[in-house]
Amino acid sequence: MFYELAAPSWGTEEIEAMQRVIASGRFTMGEQVAAFEREFAAYFGMKHGVMVNSGSSANLVAVASLFYKKDRPLERGDEVIVPAISWATTYHPLQQYGLKLRFVDVELDTLNIDVAKLEQALTPKTRAIVAVSILGNPAALDVMRAFADAHGLYFIEDNCESMDAELNGKKAGTFGDLNTFSFFFSHHISTMEGGMILTDDLELAHLCRSMRAHGWTRDLPPDTPLYERRSSDHFEAYRFILPGYNVRPLELEGAVGREQLKKLPAMTAQRRKNLVLFQELFAGDERFIIQRENGVSSAFSFTVILNPARNPDREKVFAALKGADIGFRIITGGCFLRHDVLKHYDYDTVGAIENAYLAHDLGFFVGNHPHDLTPQITRLREVLDRACR
Ligand SMILES: Cc1ncc(COP(=O)(O)O)c(C=O)c1O
Repeated sequence: MFYELAAPSWGTEEIEAMQRVIASGRFTMGEQVAAFEREFAAYFGMKHGVMVNSGSSANLVAVASLFYKKDRPLERGDEVIVPAISWATTYHPLQQYGLKLRFVDVELDTLNIDVAKLEQALTPKTRAIVAVSILGNPAALDVMRAFADAHGLYFIEDNCESMDAELNGKKAGTFGDLNTFSFFFSHHISTMEGGMILTDDLELAHLCRSMRAHGWTRDLPPDTPLYERRSSDHFEAYRFILPGYNVRPLELEGAVGREQLKKLPAMTAQRRKNLVLFQELFAGDERFIIQRENGVSSAFSFTVILNPARNPDREKVFAALKGADIGFRIITGGCFLRHDVLKHYDYDTVGAIENAYLAHDLGFFVGNHPHDLTPQITRLREVLDRACR
């Protein structure tokens, strides 16, 4: 394809790292995963990293951990404020744990939650906010953090799409009590499948560690605040304290993650160079609404919303993109309110939801890669210009 949605970011280093793991014969979670957790947390200046087998699992374990905190645990029926656009597994764990979702519209330009509506979203039952920075562009994480603190809410950052983005000199994925990341193919770094939770809270980190692996105690240090050790090692080796999962990552994924992390700054820099070109070519053209950066985007991809004021024909645009061999897709998971699965949810909406529907119905994204895309982005501009005349 002339312009792919996603491109591989591995070199020989990742293959060699996998070969070293294969030669070691240790495939289940071990030293490589532990080292990657430490290095990843250090890169973001956070205290604890807990790796899991996907970003979705990171969200699941993060939400679950809040139900088992000693003080002020979440309870079924509590409410959580969420943006109307995100990926399905931002929301599913909230449904699975019996929370009620309150959907807030997004801004049409940033594609992130409209924080002007937070006050309206708040009820006496609100206990948490889930923030999502869409496709590399930081949401108003500072505003949401302050709002959460002012109202005693938990703040979860689903940062699966915006690794290495920054707001006010602070990385996205470090504002939350719990912050989640994805290492799926096409994301900023890839471990095939994989995810991470970052937190500065020791209790939450230990809850996540236990939740990740059967709800057992084996991966916790002896001085953990979660439980009192008994004298019998025989019992302690298989001691279950939480209704957990098995969402452990593989040692291969940890080893690859370490190599990918070393390359992250250079890959982000290249993604941003591509973004600058995209912005130069599209900014100011009123036919296209492109993502307005809030802070410093890590440019997962490039979004285009056809300006509703011009009565656009998206099918014609899609046909032109197909004809030009340019990959495109829905923005993240689109407006979640459009999806059938919602019939299984307890939810309501905060005021009118308009922009998320517009983004769903008139938007799409094309890929960004950690290498130079000048010919691809230039061609994209020509194709869209012609299709929208
Ligand atoms: C915002 C968001 N959250 C969660 C996920 C899930 O990550 P994974 O595919 O690693 O399960 C994604 C996936 O792209 C995502 O975009």
